[in-house]
Amino acid sequence: MNTALSIDTPRTLNEYAPSALETINGVRREGFLGWLMKIWREHGDLVHLRMGARSLLLVTHPDHVGHINVTHRESYDKAESYDSIRELLLGNGIVTATGEDWRRQRKLMAPYFTPRGVEKFFPIFLSDTQRLIEHWRSNLQGSGRPVEMLDEMMQVTASVILHSVFSTDSDETLLRIKNLIETMVSHISNMQMRPVQVPQWVPTPGNLRFRRARKLVTAYIHELIARRRALPTEQWPDDLLTKMMTTRDEETGTLMAEQLLLDNGITLFAAGHETTARTLSFLWYALSQNPEVERRMHAELDAVLGDAPPTIDDLKKLPYTLQVVKEVLRLYPAAPMYARDAIAEDELDGFRIPAGTRTIVFAYATHRHPEFWDEPERFDPDRWLPERESARHAYAYHPFATGPRICLGNSFSLLETHVMAAMLARRFKLRLKPGHVPRFDLLGTLGSRNGLPMLIEAR
Ligand code: HEM
Repeated sequence: MNTALSIDTPRTLNEYAPSALETINGVRREGFLGWLMKIWREHGDLVHLRMGARSLLLVTHPDHVGHINVTHRESYDKAESYDSIRELLLGNGIVTATGEDWRRQRKLMAPYFTPRGVEKFFPIFLSDTQRLIEHWRSNLQGSGRPVEMLDEMMQVTASVILHSVFSTDSDETLLRIKNLIETMVSHISNMQMRPVQVPQWVPTPGNLRFRRARKLVTAYIHELIARRRALPTEQWPDDLLTKMMTTRDEETGTLMAEQLLLDNGITLFAAGHETTARTLSFLWYALSQNPEVERRMHAELDAVLGDAPPTIDDLKKLPYTLQVVKEVLRLYPAAPMYARDAIAEDELDGFRIPAGTRTIVFAYATHRHPEFWDEPERFDPDRWLPERESARHAYAYHPFATGPRICLGNSFSLLETHVMAAMLARRFKLRLKPGHVPRFDLLGTLGSRNGLPMLIEAR
């Protein structure tokens, strides 16, 4: 859509500066996500959006996605846009760290998150899904009672991540920590969506709940670390916390500092369970709306899986199920946009981008860009047939971001989602509550404002 006039004479950016009233009405009418989509459709792939004192660059075209994340990445970083989440929740952990601090952490953790590395977590995925199957069988299947699907998926993905990072054993601790971290994450999401910020020191009920949750989670992780340190290392559980506590930095030979262990404990939990739970809940929604896709997926599962739980090798024989997962991540990316800040002046497609510009990389819109996707709104897992996938623009699909700061957990969550989708769809058919029309919007991450109530039926 954008053709550079000349690289030597940077153009002025296409600007959209709605009044406060227009913004409020637009968001009220369309939802925040719908309003941003409308701006993209009406103003093109690169829009300078000015809302009062706020100024953002909305980035959608795959060429621009690659420019910011890959080819010109040294000019963009996680700077001011990440300050509040850095300060309040994630500290200097891997999601929010920058520069050398980030590089060291990424290098240390990367081996545990490669496609082979994450196979170690496969038994956790199996046993947690098995427990959910038993719960659904005894309590919910055929009850005619709709359940909120996101809550069901949050329980199981929280259990997976707490087992994988901390080897948390009791259900009671698991539930307590899950609720506390979710209180913290939702406080920050609400804060970021609010036009007027209430300072953290004001003792509002929300601020007080947040502070209490942070104190309890911090105490829990410190105690876990102290209990491990009191044992001989051979007795430490084989989990990510132990790995972070024992792996020495190759260059400096030092171990991860206690504060950073804490930051990363919270970071991995916060980054690793809600996004996956949302993806799974969207998957059940998409299947309920696309009977032919559901039929093909069921046929594949029935042919390969019999009554036994899947093995890693079985998963390779379930390509259609994985195509369904990828298509869910296209139409319903749990992280529909992510921020990058220009830390140096840059030129993007013939436009001058001053240092300090906040960019929003809009994956939800890229994934519907008509130049790269036929009938973009159609749920079609066949887009992920290998020959079609490899023919596509490399940055037309970025549900996990892209470039060096691509999601660390992408192989983890793809394997987890593949296993859970296969095991649950082999046993159950999930139906959207009759008459319910979900209202998708940006709720920190992508979600349905009125939930996804579903009925669980045995197959
Ligand atoms: C479907 C599930 C998931 C989605 C859609 C997702 C999406 C993303 C996205 C878009 C980013 C980039 C964020 C940004 O630049 O601001 C990211 C970063 C990250 N994600 Fe995920 N994620 C998922 C699951 C996971 C899981 C399961 C884990 C951990 C076990 C995880 C750990 C991380 C980490 C550590 C980063 C920061 C990487 C870095 O900056 O080096 N994610 N994720």
